[in-house]
Amino acid sequence: MLADTLKKEESDMYDLNGKRIMVTGGLGFIGSRVVDKLVEYGAIVKVVDVKHPNDYAAFHNDKASYFVMDIAHLEQMREIFAATRPDFVIHCAAFARMQPSFEQPDECFLSNVVGARNILLLSKEFGVKRVVYSASSSAYGEAELPLTEDMKLAPRALNPYASSKRIGEMLCYDMGVLTGGPETVCLRYFNVYGPRQPDTAEGPYATVIGIFLDQYKAGVPMTVVPDGLSRRDYTHVYDVASANIEAMLSPKVGKAEIINVGCGKNYSIFEVAALIHGKPKEALVEGKDFVFIAPRKDEAKETLASWERARKLLGWRPFVTLEDGIANLKKHL
Ligand SMILES: NC(=O)c1ccc[n+]([C@@H]2O[C@H](COP(=O)([O-])OP(=O)(O)OC[C@H]3O[C@@H](n4cnc5c(N)ncnc54)[C@H](O)[C@@H]3O)[C@@H](O)[C@H]2O)c1
Repeated sequence: MLADTLKKEESDMYDLNGKRIMVTGGLGFIGSRVVDKLVEYGAIVKVVDVKHPNDYAAFHNDKASYFVMDIAHLEQMREIFAATRPDFVIHCAAFARMQPSFEQPDECFLSNVVGARNILLLSKEFGVKRVVYSASSSAYGEAELPLTEDMKLAPRALNPYASSKRIGEMLCYDMGVLTGGPETVCLRYFNVYGPRQPDTAEGPYATVIGIFLDQYKAGVPMTVVPDGLSRRDYTHVYDVASANIEAMLSPKVGKAEIINVGCGKNYSIFEVAALIHGKPKEALVEGKDFVFIAPRKDEAKETLASWERARKLLGWRPFVTLEDGIANLKKHL
């Protein structure tokens, strides 16, 4: 059972009764939260994921049905669409992290580009009303803050993952708006964290809050990438799941709009470490509270979202502050 003390007042009462919704990547960190929320509001949920639900009990929802499949396999995916006939697709499946994409760019492009193309192609073929695409703030690279959706992007992305997610946005436009495909909407998430986040310091998929909490629990120093000053806008997974449902239902979108899903506030790595340690960042002691590790390749130094468009088009706003989100995660360590 997930921690529910962060649940916002139920202003978001959705009527999803009888709606057939496919969630790709529904055994992942974000997708599994989306699945829980859709089920809670009465949707008929079909999950497609390469992972087997029996191996991921903590991510599995008994009221959803699961199809074990790689979205890059067009013919098998066609059979799943034919069997499930979704009204909507929430497309979360992806090779989902930056640093591993330097080692495995081919796998990254297969899932993120070929996979997205298959989802859009089949959504058109089977009359899906709308595809909600999980885009990424990594699309911005190094850019002036705050990051706004209409700002001009650098010609090249900083890493293969960011490129692949940018191509997915283009496909949403080309295979949706330009060629009579399904309605589409692209949500650029900013550093998502919360329950079920990847958390093993050694794992290539873990993200900083997960790693730091794991290290805090083990009583070992947090591993900080130099110089500890890069800043990120952190978004709680509960808010990201709400944004997905609002994007699926909003009458104001459907034409491949790009919409930031972030909080409009950013924190340095040291500030995150300090929040978890429960002391001011000036009081952090090198060697005891943290150690420096090797720098990372090609990621933006700083992110900060403008979420004005999400407010206007989706009626969305972030509810969970980083302070509350971390306090809640610490309670469940
Ligand atoms: N977590 C973040 O901070 C963040 C930020 C921006 C965007 N995103 C995007 O959000 C989405 C979800 O990310 P997440 O953090 O939950 O990642 P995750 O790795 O936890 O979940 C992704 C899921 O997709 C599945 N998957 C991967 N490739 C697949 C394929 N070819 N066929 C079928 N299933 C496949 C995985 O098994 C996994 O269950 C991704 O599209 C990611 O790019 C995440």
